[in-house]
Amino acid sequence: MACMEKFTYMLAPIEDMTSNAFRAVCHKHGADLTFTELTRVESLARKNKSTWSRIELKDSTPTIIQLLGAKEFSFKKFLSMFSPSKGFKGFNLNFGCPSPQVVRIGQGCAMVRRISKAKKIVQIFRDYGYPVSIKMRLGITRIDKENKSYLNLINAVNADFFIVHARYGNQSYDEPADFSVYEECVKTGKTVIANGDITTNSQIEYLKKAGVKGAMIGRAAVLNPSIFSMLKGESSAPINSIIKEYLSLSDLYNEPFRYRKNIMKWIGKEGFGKTEG
Ligand SMILES: Cc1cc2nc3c(=O)[nH]c(=O)nc-3n(C[C@H](O)[C@H](O)[C@H](O)COP(=O)(O)O)c2cc1C
Repeated sequence: MACMEKFTYMLAPIEDMTSNAFRAVCHKHGADLTFTELTRVESLARKNKSTWSRIELKDSTPTIIQLLGAKEFSFKKFLSMFSPSKGFKGFNLNFGCPSPQVVRIGQGCAMVRRISKAKKIVQIFRDYGYPVSIKMRLGITRIDKENKSYLNLINAVNADFFIVHARYGNQSYDEPADFSVYEECVKTGKTVIANGDITTNSQIEYLKKAGVKGAMIGRAAVLNPSIFSMLKGESSAPINSIIKEYLSLSDLYNEPFRYRKNIMKWIGKEGFGKTEG
């Protein structure tokens, strides 16, 4: 996984939307790799049953489990209880969540500044032999971005790959993702995946030229899960048949209603996330 030979298309984690059924549908329509929504490692470490259900994998869709947290003992406690199932492709650390409650306790995008803590957490996964990647913003503030804190993190930490959502924490989705950061991220020699506002073939061409090894897509995949096959130049299925596939899998997996409610609000429509998130 560390060295991605082929440009890799990834479904982004979206809380209360990217359930197992949605991930399976995106994989069927071209996503090479998918991610669970963020799950708090402290809650997993406390053996909270409904939190564990967020990371349960019900089929062989290639899936990375995303964790939010900063306390080493919680990661260790969680890993002592975890056993991988089919489809499991490793862990991802959320260093991107911009929620003020999360940032205040030094988690999410605040982790971009906490390099020695990040190194220790990554080492815990290495000690267990699990693949581990990082999904990050460019820091919390514009100053973090100007100081290139994100490059310090990418340079210093030994993760398998870095998914760079090209905004800092205080930026809303109304401001465009800054694709110009990718070239310098790639120059670190690490494996970099781009994220933020990716919808077109010309963006994919730009990213490939910049040396980025993959594209992670969130909101555009919620509007149309076959965006992955379209970007790969493969044939795409009609949206109505994709919706049917999703609903029947969501029933089969007996998923909580909130996932279906949120997906059905957007799938087949336009413009998700222009003002939210
Ligand atoms: C409603 C919503 C929920 C999100 N939940 C998560 C999450 O659980 N974990 C995460 O790393 N990012 C989360 N994100 C951020 C997305 O993964 C992604 O980084 C962002 O939407 C930019 O990519 P896009 O332009 O392709 O959507 C969320 C975004 C939105 C809009």
